[in-house]
Amino acid sequence: MALPRLRTVVLASSAALLTRRALKRRIARSPLWPLPALPEPISGHSKRRATAVRKLLVTGRTVVAEGVVQLRLEGPGLPPWSPGAHLDLVLPSGLVRQFSLCGDPADTGAYTVATRLVADGRGGSREVHEQLQEGLEVEVRGPRNRFPLAEAPGYVFVVGGIGITPVLPMLRALAASGAEWRLLYGGRSRASMPFLEEIEKLGADGDRVTVVAQDEAGHPDIAGALADLAPGAAVYCCGPEPLMDAVAAALPAGHPLHLERFSAATDDTARTGPFEVELHRSGRTVRVAAGQSVLAAVREEVPYVAYSCEQGFCGTCQQRVLEGEIDHRDELLTEDERGDSMLICVSRCRGERLVLDL
Ligand code: FES
Repeated sequence: MALPRLRTVVLASSAALLTRRALKRRIARSPLWPLPALPEPISGHSKRRATAVRKLLVTGRTVVAEGVVQLRLEGPGLPPWSPGAHLDLVLPSGLVRQFSLCGDPADTGAYTVATRLVADGRGGSREVHEQLQEGLEVEVRGPRNRFPLAEAPGYVFVVGGIGITPVLPMLRALAASGAEWRLLYGGRSRASMPFLEEIEKLGADGDRVTVVAQDEAGHPDIAGALADLAPGAAVYCCGPEPLMDAVAAALPAGHPLHLERFSAATDDTARTGPFEVELHRSGRTVRVAAGQSVLAAVREEVPYVAYSCEQGFCGTCQQRVLEGEIDHRDELLTEDERGDSMLICVSRCRGERLVLDL
């Protein structure tokens, strides 16, 4: 009698153990358990996030203008980059921020970035200024380039303040190649404008650089800078949003405009709402309030959803859209990608409802 009972006990405890393991696996696979884990998700697995992460050592920290620090980040086997590229820095708190590379692409042992302290910003620049000291290791991703220097018969750059960082390597390359270029560089004061001395030297031949410090000369003459553009000349602009809007408005037809934003585009009309977002795989529906991002609303139901910059720069939050009319508010996705996906940190809905493959 004892043997069958023992066998029953062993079988029952084995079954319980297996059930417990299966439950643990299901919970691990599905953060929304008891809703079932779904097959390999499509959303949140964009190629952009496949960028390798590496650790670099901060080996130089220099104040290059009032409120602007430049960091030299060294490491072995760094991928090459071209003017206009940026790097993602994973800051000690876990925040991820994008910084344009402003060093020399021929320097294969280090990347150089510079950032202005934004006292009332979201904390990224403060962390760089206060915590990224020499000797510290920092995680980086990239570089990636979505602001490359295009082939053109001539170039006009309109830059505001720290927006000079992606443009500086372009100017060096153009000056070295003897290309035709001009720069209108505006800032609050000369002391607050990084790399001024080098830029004035680069443009000394041919009077190519116009510096407008607001405390001396007011606002830059954008219409004047864009008058008499040579046929086919490319116009590059990087700086605060009002500057980029002014350049776009003043640009004569027939000239390509290349923009690099340092903050998310804003448009109050696009911030209107509310609307509904159905999360198809999770079987949930969230309400996006006026002024709230889709990402913020989705995170209330799906806290694990991937995101990083929250400004439409990095592509981490890209989600596939199954239904609904998307109001794209980024400048990152290609036209193809816009057909069926969106960056949920900035983009919205033109109608009442979106369905995400999430
Ligand atoms: S979180 Fe970076 S683009 Fe949305």
